[in-house]
Amino acid sequence: MGEALGGLRRTMMCGKPRETNVGEKITLMGWVQRNRRLGGLNFIDLRDITGIMQVVFGEEINKEAFVKAQAVRPEYCIAVTGEVVKRQDPNTNMETGLVEIKCESIKILSESETPPIYIKENLDAAESIRLKYRYLDLRRPDMQNIFMIRSKTSKAVRDYLDLNGFLELETPMLTKSTPEGARDYLVPSRNYPGMFYALPQSPQIFKQLLMVSGFDKYYQIVKCFRDEDLRANRQPEFTQIDLEMSFVEADDIMAVNEGLVAHVFKEVINHEIKLPIRRMTFKDAIEKYGSDKPDLRFGMEITNLSEEAKAIDFKVFSDALSNGGSVRALCLKGGASMGRKDIDRLGEFVKTYKAKGLAYIILKDDEIKSPIAKFLKEEEMNAIIAKMGAEKGDIILIVADKDSVVFQSLGALRLELSKKFELVKDKSEFNFCWITEFAQFEYNEEEGRYHAAHHPFTMPMDEDMHLLESDPGSVRSKAYDLVLNGEELGGGSVRIHEADVQERMFRALGFTTEEAYERFGFLLEAFKFGPPPHGGLAFGLDRMVMFLAGTENIKDVIAFPKNQNAYCNLSQAPNVADAKQIEELGLMINTTKEV
Ligand code: AMO
Ligand code: AMP
Repeated sequence: MGEALGGLRRTMMCGKPRETNVGEKITLMGWVQRNRRLGGLNFIDLRDITGIMQVVFGEEINKEAFVKAQAVRPEYCIAVTGEVVKRQDPNTNMETGLVEIKCESIKILSESETPPIYIKENLDAAESIRLKYRYLDLRRPDMQNIFMIRSKTSKAVRDYLDLNGFLELETPMLTKSTPEGARDYLVPSRNYPGMFYALPQSPQIFKQLLMVSGFDKYYQIVKCFRDEDLRANRQPEFTQIDLEMSFVEADDIMAVNEGLVAHVFKEVINHEIKLPIRRMTFKDAIEKYGSDKPDLRFGMEITNLSEEAKAIDFKVFSDALSNGGSVRALCLKGGASMGRKDIDRLGEFVKTYKAKGLAYIILKDDEIKSPIAKFLKEEEMNAIIAKMGAEKGDIILIVADKDSVVFQSLGALRLELSKKFELVKDKSEFNFCWITEFAQFEYNEEEGRYHAAHHPFTMPMDEDMHLLESDPGSVRSKAYDLVLNGEELGGGSVRIHEADVQERMFRALGFTTEEAYERFGFLLEAFKFGPPPHGGLAFGLDRMVMFLAGTENIKDVIAFPKNQNAYCNLSQAPNVADAKQIEELGLMINTTKEV
């Protein structure tokens, strides 16, 4: 049984006592990290969010406290009062290591069972257990540190945006399907049986409506919901730093946002970002790095060998070229040391990106080894080597196919090789880049139609507007993403603000006017009433905190995350609902559907 505080007041936090406090009588409250017996004394390490303090109990110091301390076990919640004294055996690894407390009285505020996970740094426990006992997992100092970083981050965001004239406004959670392209989470309505609210995939439409209302500059740190396949950097509910501005062009929005990122990195981890952040067009990013979120911490760009391949009498190359595709390659410095098995594995790797094969040229000291050497004349081989800038000791890895496959497979291969050969030299580097001039549309081969690459409210570039109907595939948009070390940190665009352009866009996306009005009519309607030119952006706050805290797992930066199957191990959601609730909602459960 625990004791009540009974008027006892905490006078200091556990991580704070220093030599300057020697002689003071203080009261600390916290959790028992460990309790050990040594030479007739008990030593308890007492932990709270600020750190750990050593507390000594002895017969000489206070007999009653000493006796009581014997029963104290890890994770008991206790209060201790005593005098700060200098430690005989200073521990320089602890911030409080020069002092300790001679305990005169102890209160056991609550007891603890043996915790199912250790409360310690760098815990190596199964994720399901950590998530089930998340409140214990969150007692760990390294986890608490992450959430202090997260809190500092949102404060820095708010400070900066407030200073720059942004208003923090809220938008509804029970709303209508928003167009970010993922699956919606639906909430059944009791008032309208058979009808559903959708949880927002983002506040996109509402923030645009706030611009129509004249709020000028809006922001919100807001939950978004997307029912999609989860990965290391995706959660079904995640947080955006969402903002929108009126009377601006892309450059204005990018300037405010790089200022924001610079402010946050400076405030939170004292890292200076050099502004302006470099920019790269989507086309360049794809052609050089095979990705719209290139990791620029290392080079190894993709090189186009189509010109060199033209004359070569090798069916794989000539077929790719005659089908409108290309032949492109990477040159891995020092890669010639790779064995046959390793190279075969890379061949298998690119096949997962639909490449049909991976040709290679190894530049050994005394010879050139390549399965395609037999198809190449000497000068053709030399031309390839020269174009690649390859030297002895290197390996050239070639894919011939239609462009989308070439870029995807070589882009992925580039990243794979960077891991295998540790091409990122400085692990503490933050390499930012804006990607601009995105394609407006992506062609979906399965459905045989175009999708919005960003979302359907993104403004096409002025010079491409006339191609909207005739050649949608080559229309570029006023969209931009901020990429950091190969991850998309945020993205946004200048929006369409005229109803007629918006309707053209919906048509290009294959919506009939009726369908467009059915889904987004309230926005089109609003655009009839003097909408200002506007645009904005949203950062993934969780992703930003991952970088600031130096973790690669998004679950580390969310207090109560879902597991990889969108399940909450802690609360055990989702869960079946009462028959009564189901009935009230006018629903029937199809019990034959497999889970
Ligand atoms: P977008 O869909 O690019 O844009 O999302 C913005 C940013 O949110 C983060 N993000 C995620 N983070 C964790 N888990 C997820 N499932 C997840 N999905 C996205 C990414 C991404 O860059 N309304 C537009 C923004 C705009 O146009 O203003 C939008 O939502 O870091
Ligand atoms: P072979 O099959 O022995 O004539 O050699 C063909 C070589 O070309 C093998 O190394 C294949 O992996 C490689 N290859 C096959 N298809 C492609 C392709 N689409 N792009 C690049 N290399 C390929």
